[in-house]
Formats: sequence, C-alpha cells, structure tokens
Amino acid sequence: MGPPGAGKGTQGEILERSLGVPRFSTGDILRHARRQGTKQGHEAKRFMDAGELVPDEVILGIIGEALQGDDARDGFVLDGFPRTVAQAEGLDQILEDLGIHLDAILNISVEDDEIVHRLSTRLVCSSCGIVLGPYGEMNEACPVCGGTLVQRRDDGADTVRHRLVVYRKQTEPVLRWYRASGALVVDVDGLGTVEEIRDRVQAGIGT
Ligand code: AP5
Repeated sequence: MGPPGAGKGTQGEILERSLGVPRFSTGDILRHARRQGTKQGHEAKRFMDAGELVPDEVILGIIGEALQGDDARDGFVLDGFPRTVAQAEGLDQILEDLGIHLDAILNISVEDDEIVHRLSTRLVCSSCGIVLGPYGEMNEACPVCGGTLVQRRDDGADTVRHRLVVYRKQTEPVLRWYRASGALVVDVDGLGTVEEIRDRVQAGIGT
C-alpha cells in the first residue's frame, strides 16, 4: 500500500522476483483490460482517467478470480489493493474462503512533492505497459516491444493531486482498519534509491 507513485509497482516487482510468487496489481490488470479493449477495461477508463477509484465490486471480482488461480497457491503479492475498507473486508472474506492467511501489509510513504515529480516524469509503453521511470523520451520506441513511450493519462499534475486526495479520503482509512485489527503493518520510508527501499522492505517483512 501507499499513495500513487510511492513505488508500490517498483518494489512489488522486486518482491515478486525475490519471493518467486505472482504479483497482482489491480492497476496493471485494468490497464491490460483497456489495451485489450474489453468491456471491463472500457468501463474502468472514465474512473482511471479522472483519478477516481474503480467500483469495489469490479475490483473484488478481479482479485477473487486471480487468487483462485493455481499460480497463487504458494503465495502472492497484492499491489494497489485493497484501497477501500469495503475492499479490505471483501479480501478478508476471499482469504477466509480460500484458507489463506495475510502475512503482512507493506505501507510505503513518500511526500506529495516527490510524488508529483516522479509521476510527471514517468513514461510507460502504450503497447506492453512497461514503466520506464524518468528514462527515455516521449514518443520514443519502447526498448522491450518497440511500442511508443507515453505519459500515463492519469499522470498529469492536476490528476495526480486529485489521486492524492482520493488516497487520503478512501485508502488511508484502510491502513487504520488494518492497524486496529492487529494485522502486521510494516511502514517503510519510500524516499531513497530503489535499492535502499528494497533493503528496508526486506528487513521489514523478514525475507
Ligand atoms: P495504479 O496503477 O495502482 O496507480 P497508483 O496506485 O496511483 O500507483 P502508481 O502506479 O502511480 O505508482 P506506484 O506506487 O506503483 O509507483 P511506481 O513503482 O510505478 O492505479 C491506477 C488507477 O487504477 C487508480 O487511480 C484507479 O482508478 C484504478 N485502480 C487500481 N487499483 C484499484 C483499486 N484497488 N480500487 C479501485 N480502483 C483501482 O513508481 C512511480 C514512478 O517513480 C516510476 O516512474 C518509478 O520508476 C519511480 N520510482 C520508483 N521508486 C523510486 C525511487 N525510490 N526513487 C525515485 N523514483 C522512483
């Protein structure tokens, strides 16, 4: 968990590799659905572009399906989910049904000015979705698939500021909910190099 641009995807990918378990990013799944032109992707578009949250029932459907897959049997990393208390309650139910215990909630924090800077310089591939951070130039060819590098539609400064408001209002209560429930919440300072934060994450969750 963490605000937009805190580094959830970056650290989630590192954890996915180091733990050898799949990562389910609701943002990535929705962007993939949009690129594929599915009904779900089409319906999510207006929420995502406006920096609003996609309705809980859509998100819980995505996660419920993902966690029932064979690849999730030995564990998984959730990235960008849950973002509302209703999603956290839904996740509890899904996990109970599957007999799975949530080990830890990782919370990465970064101050707002740094977030706006990171997201306004982030480039992603419009074809494969890879994130290039501040490297590369707009409209250049993606080094992975040859697609075009673009800014994410929701990474304009005004939309990022709105995403931060949404985060404070709808997602911070989820952290309070987990803390009150006695779950292990690991707080990590997200300022520093990617490697420094990786080390803090690994120390925090004991891997
Ligand atoms: P999503 O894609 O999840 O967006 P987000 O949470 O706003 O997070 P970001 O992907 O912007 O940032 P991140 O924290 O993953 O950081 P990253 O590692 O990329 O969701 C998008 C939209 O989908 C939502 O607004 C909503 O509409 C919908 N949605 C998704 N999940 C939902 C849910 N559960 N419920 C409802 N709606 C949902 O890093 C950011 C940049 O910083 C990169 O360029 C990276 O290279 C760079 N960077 C990373 N680490 C560092 C570092 N240590 N120092 C400097 N730069 C760094």
